Amino acid sequence: MKSLMMTKYGDVIISLEVQEVSLPTVGANQILIKTHSASFNPIDYKILRGDFKAMGKIQFPRGIGRDVSGVIKEVGEKVKQLKVGNKVYSRIDDNFVGTMAEYVISNASDVALIPSNLNHEEAASIPLVGLTSYQALIDIAKLSAGENILIHAGSGGIGTIAIQLAKHLGAKVTTTTSTKNVGLVKDLGADKVIDYTKHSYLDEGAKFDVVFDTLGGKHTLDSFKVLKDGGRVVSISGDLDSVTTKQLGLNKVVRFLLALKVKKVTKAASKMGAIYRFLLMSPNGAQLKELAKLYESGSIKPVIDKTYNFDDSIKALDYLAKGRARGKVVVKVGQ
Ligand SMILES: NC(=O)c1ccc[n+]([C@@H]2O[C@H](COP(=O)([O-])OP(=O)(O)OC[C@H]3O[C@@H](n4cnc5c(N)ncnc54)[C@H](OP(=O)(O)O)[C@@H]3O)[C@@H](O)[C@H]2O)c1
Repeated sequence: MKSLMMTKYGDVIISLEVQEVSLPTVGANQILIKTHSASFNPIDYKILRGDFKAMGKIQFPRGIGRDVSGVIKEVGEKVKQLKVGNKVYSRIDDNFVGTMAEYVISNASDVALIPSNLNHEEAASIPLVGLTSYQALIDIAKLSAGENILIHAGSGGIGTIAIQLAKHLGAKVTTTTSTKNVGLVKDLGADKVIDYTKHSYLDEGAKFDVVFDTLGGKHTLDSFKVLKDGGRVVSISGDLDSVTTKQLGLNKVVRFLLALKVKKVTKAASKMGAIYRFLLMSPNGAQLKELAKLYESGSIKPVIDKTYNFDDSIKALDYLAKGRARGKVVVKVGQ
């Protein structure tokens, strides 16, 4: 089968190529999906760039892509709830990466039926960003009706779902974006939009119960300047907390260095009785099932910036890597 493969660390354009690889075999608790569509996420170009080398080096060639939507071609002997022909979507386990391939293996527990009102391209845009938003806002922040939330970067893959999910939960949503995307995030339900090219969220005087930090860097620490006492900051791009370093199974030296790095942030949190958590999202079929209901009821709509054909999948990742996507970047792999 054809699969887009990472061949070395480096820039998107020079480090990827389509190769012919053997069809994966299906384990007892796994399924084989014939890919219809897949989508890229920033982690795909970050891995390629070598951002996570300190956590373990990649053996090349290696597949790429974590989100898939397609049709089940084969089920493992212990899989009971799914059958051949089901239309499913998944954020596949890291062991089976990638989804930019004609066939993809997933744990049966990591898939759900696609929302019945969506096509495969729309469904492929959901898993990683949908699960991340669900785990950040529901599992960790426990965002509740009437609370104020600041969502950084409302126009990105994460932001476009997080705004809609937060509104569904009854929260009041403030988000940041640049001038060209103000209309987009308003249409998604944002109550207040801060155009970061004109104003800083630090100058607004508002205080939030929850800040969803999708930007990292200085924004992680700055998030505490706009947080209410006892509030929660959930970051997906800032400094790793001790929960995450354990989850990753990092060695003691790396954990010690990361603990030093996060110290300013944990200090800021404890000073105001607040909570800081880094989220490393994980695959979860049950949560994809819950998300499907939200799409079917119309509470959340997919937001796709561009759709590419498989032959242009390198261009698709190159576009995402520029950091200006409005929603998701999807690739049509098969039919
Ligand atoms: N820890 C985890 O498990 C996890 C999971 C998912 C994602 N992430 C990380 O979360 C981050 C966001 O992911 P994503 O999929 O949303 O990325 P993305 O789709 O590439 O985000 C692009 C968007 O970011 C906006 N943006 C860029 N700089 C901004 C700024 N200073 N202020 C406000 N908006 C800004 C851009 O809007 P403008 O063009 O208007 O600036 C653009 O619409 C990535 O770093 C990703 O790696 C982590």
